[in-house]
Amino acid sequence: MTQSAVLFENIHALADAPLTSAGVDLVRHGAALPVDTLHSELAQASLAGIRSRTKMNSAAFDAAPQLLALGCFCIGTNQVDLVTAADRGIPVFNAPFGNTRSVAELTLASAIMLMRGIPMRSAAAKAGKWMKSADGAHEVRGKKLGIVGYGNIGSQLSVLASGLGMHVYFHDVEPKLAHGNARYVDNLDELLALSDVLTLHVPSTPRTQGMIDAAALSKMKPGAMLINQARGDLMDIDAVAAALESGQLGGVAVDVFPVEPASKSDPFVSPLQAFENVILTPHIGGSTLEAQAAIGTDVASKLARFLTEGATKGAVNVPEMDPGPLSAGQTRLLSFHGNAPGYLTRLNEAVSASGANVTAQRLETKGELGFVAADLDGELPAGFVDYVSALEGSIKTRLIKG
Ligand code: NAI
Repeated sequence: MTQSAVLFENIHALADAPLTSAGVDLVRHGAALPVDTLHSELAQASLAGIRSRTKMNSAAFDAAPQLLALGCFCIGTNQVDLVTAADRGIPVFNAPFGNTRSVAELTLASAIMLMRGIPMRSAAAKAGKWMKSADGAHEVRGKKLGIVGYGNIGSQLSVLASGLGMHVYFHDVEPKLAHGNARYVDNLDELLALSDVLTLHVPSTPRTQGMIDAAALSKMKPGAMLINQARGDLMDIDAVAAALESGQLGGVAVDVFPVEPASKSDPFVSPLQAFENVILTPHIGGSTLEAQAAIGTDVASKLARFLTEGATKGAVNVPEMDPGPLSAGQTRLLSFHGNAPGYLTRLNEAVSASGANVTAQRLETKGELGFVAADLDGELPAGFVDYVSALEGSIKTRLIKG
């Protein structure tokens, strides 16, 4: 039977190739759909692709009885009821790192713009003033860049900034391998004190929320630059405004805010709008066509591999497994089931009674969910999937032919 995928919200065209190569018929929609239409479009879909505007709640999953997997062609998965999806044996995939490079480039560009005093010179030029002077304008070469959070973005930024001749220092709560000549600093205060440009690349956690407050700002080098393109609640925005007012901060670039407009038509208000030496961007750190393309390929490939091989690697809500390609002539049995004693015995008895020979079997569990991939030689009797589906503890059973 031909499988079908429905893609909502104008997902990048590069998503098509992995899916069509897997033999999937595609239906595309340029926008998020109203609930009724969304539900009717999901009715026959084996795979679905969404971005952030389509809410996949339990009613949406009810409307998608054939759904095998869901792809979030974005970073976050808050728009999906992940528990319901897992309860139904539906893996949810996303692309957590598709826009890493885009953020790192914007951060570096922001550092250069701030160090050259470009925001105020540009504003002046637009207002008919000619601020032709080197006052307060610096190269980034030879300056100290302090990176808080040396993960995917922080470490990539480290490489780019080193290439420009910056001296890179970083602080992280986990051990990290330093790239090039970057140096680890084991406490944040030390990093605050030494940085000419300080940039945040940590997630929002109870430990990081408000980490840049008035006390932290007072420990920074007078006139230093501050960049936050990570999460809006990492900085006390009023304290940052006060530090700009006093000159403690020489410039700031912010892409993420404690309160962000819900849509393009809602107004945006921030105390930082009052300052000329500030770059404000509307949470577009990761928003490039290249990132969209990378995300399109990444998530579509994950969906295709789940369809053709049963691979759940990269799924956010089910046990992760990568059983690899299936040999020609073989059949792979995939079973999501309740992670409770006795299920494997029942499954193996069913396989044994079918007369098929098991050539490989893998089991992974996550919380209350188990996932088995068993490669079988030999013909399976008609009704085998229905038989396994009816076993106590079975959630979702599927066969793939090699
Ligand atoms: P990541 O998870 O790869 O790296 C985060 C790093 O922060 C990890 O190395 C972690 O150990 C470290 N960390 C956690 N708590 C810390 C603490 N208290 N002190 C020091 N280090 C700490 O994350 P990734 O992909 O590099 O993303 C970084 C941030 O950028 C995230 O907040 C993410 O949401 C944000 N982001 C923003 C985008 C935008 O459009 N502006 C787009 C993509 C990501």
